[in-house]
Parts: sequence; C-alpha cells; structure tokens
Amino acid sequence: MSKDDQQIAAYMINDEPYYAAQGEEIELYEAAYKNGIPILLKGPTGCGKSRFMEHMAWRLKRPLITVSCHDDLTSSDLVGRYLIVGGETRWTDGPLARAVRCGGICYLDEVVEARKDTTVVIHPLADDRRVLPIEKTGELIQANSDFCLAISYNPGYQSVLKDLKQSTRQRFVAIEFDYPDAGLEQQIVETESGVSSEIARQLVKFAGMTRNLKGNGLDEGASTRLLVHAGKLIVTGIDPIAACQGAITQALTDDPEMLQAVDELSASLF
Ligand SMILES: Nc1ncnc2c1ncn2[C@@H]1O[C@H](COP(=O)(O)OP(=O)(O)OP(=O)(O)O)[C@@H](O)[C@H]1O
Ligand SMILES: [Mg+2]
Repeated sequence: MSKDDQQIAAYMINDEPYYAAQGEEIELYEAAYKNGIPILLKGPTGCGKSRFMEHMAWRLKRPLITVSCHDDLTSSDLVGRYLIVGGETRWTDGPLARAVRCGGICYLDEVVEARKDTTVVIHPLADDRRVLPIEKTGELIQANSDFCLAISYNPGYQSVLKDLKQSTRQRFVAIEFDYPDAGLEQQIVETESGVSSEIARQLVKFAGMTRNLKGNGLDEGASTRLLVHAGKLIVTGIDPIAACQGAITQALTDDPEMLQAVDELSASLF
C-alpha cells in the first residue's frame, strides 16, 4: 500500500456507527451526493450532526476527513502548503485537497468560525465546476466524482457577523437537525449509555425542562450528548442526581441561581 493509500485507509469507517434517523436526512444526503451537490448541516450542539456524518461516510464507503474550523484556520490549512522535507521544499496537500483527489468526504465542522479566505476556496468546489484551485502551485484539481463537501453550522449562537454569506449557503442542500423527539431521544440515550429505559425517559424529561429555559437564563438547553454523558455516569455507579449535576447542569451554566434552579429540576425527577 502506498503512503497515500495508507492515509486514506485511516479515514475509512469500517463498523456501522449507530445513528437513529430523525426524518428523511439519510435519503436527502444520498440524493444530494448522487448529484454532486454539497451538503450543509444546521443544528444546535450535541444533536447528532457529527454522528450522522460518520454514519453517511460508512454507508457510502468513503473516507471521512473532518476539519474543525477555528478563527485561525486559513485556506492553506485546508488546501496545503510547501514544507521543507530533508532539505527539499515539497508540496503537501491539506485535508481538503486530499479529499478532493481521493474522492473522500470533507466535513468542515463549524465552518463560520474559519477565516473569510476559506470560503473563497470552497466556492468553486461547491458549485457545478467542482474544482479546487491551488494558488501556490498553479494547479487546478478537478474533484474526483466520489468527492463530497459537507459543512456544519449552528445558527443559534453564532453572531450575525459570523453568519454564512448567501453566496456560500446558496450552493448547498441544507439538512436541518434538532434534538430528536422524546421517544427517539430516549432510545438514543439507552443505546448509547446503556441506562434502563426508565432512567433514559427521566433524563429526556429533564432535558425538556432545561430546553424550556433557553432564553430564560440558559443560553442552550441540555443536548442529547449531555444526556448520554449523564447516562454513562449512572451506569458506572454514580447516583442520578449527582450524574445530572456533573454531566448536565454544570455544563449548561456557571450562574449560581441557575445552577440551583436546574438542580432542583433534576432532584424533582430522580
Ligand atoms: N440521531 C442520533 N443517533 C445516534 N446517536 C446520537 C444521535 N443524536 C445524538 N446522538 C448522540 O449524541 C452525541 C453527540 O452527537 P454529535 O457529536 O453528533 O453532535 P453534533 O451535532 O456534532 O454537535 P456539535 O455541533 O457540538 O459538534 C453522539 O455522540 C451520540 O452519542
Ligand atoms: Mg460535531
């Protein structure tokens, strides 16, 4: 196996990641993928976007190359740069160029966090040209037909300044995510953490109470991720009230009054 093949093999997902569909998102993704249209996932933190991407990469049998975007991320971090290797300067592909060449799925997580120049780079890839210009080498890479670009963003907490531009968002098929409905969320918490269905039901109920406090003292309610964390602590032997405090309440807020109010909610359930 060449070094490139080895790198790609490392991005393959061989075992099915558990993913409980909320609606038609799997079919929608597959249809967009077949048509070479990039995908935009929207939704709050911890609602299953990354898990969905892992599941889709497994389903489509493509390597998944995820980049967590941050405000220092430049287009060179995505596309590549010249590096000095053994006294020689050599071009090294970044994650996006690698995915474009090998026909992988490139998932840019929290894309609005990245610097503005990165959106310039994805535009020609995200329309029907499907090309990646590499300015520094003068190369224009035509994307492999299996290549897929997916980006995620959380419309809730990002500021207007960091909103996605229309010229960017209007290139994508958008899939909206939210916390699953109670029955499905209970099933997810049970499966992911191994708690009993009764405890999972109570955790979901608790999450619903915190979600009602969004905008009334809390910036966000408890995500599915936090419920899974609490469930795991409970399975490991932690008392449910303490598990909720550590895994959920403290993760949601630092405000002493809110902490107390949310703790009282969990104490009323367990
Ligand atoms: N539909 C689902 N099927 C299976 N597991 C789920 C689902 N939704 C959420 N989960 C569970 O919640 C956890 C968090 O989900 P995930 O990491 O995909 O969130 P996310 O939307 O990517 O969040 P962020 O925006 O913070 O990255 C997963 O590890 C998994 O345990
Ligand atoms: Mg994620």
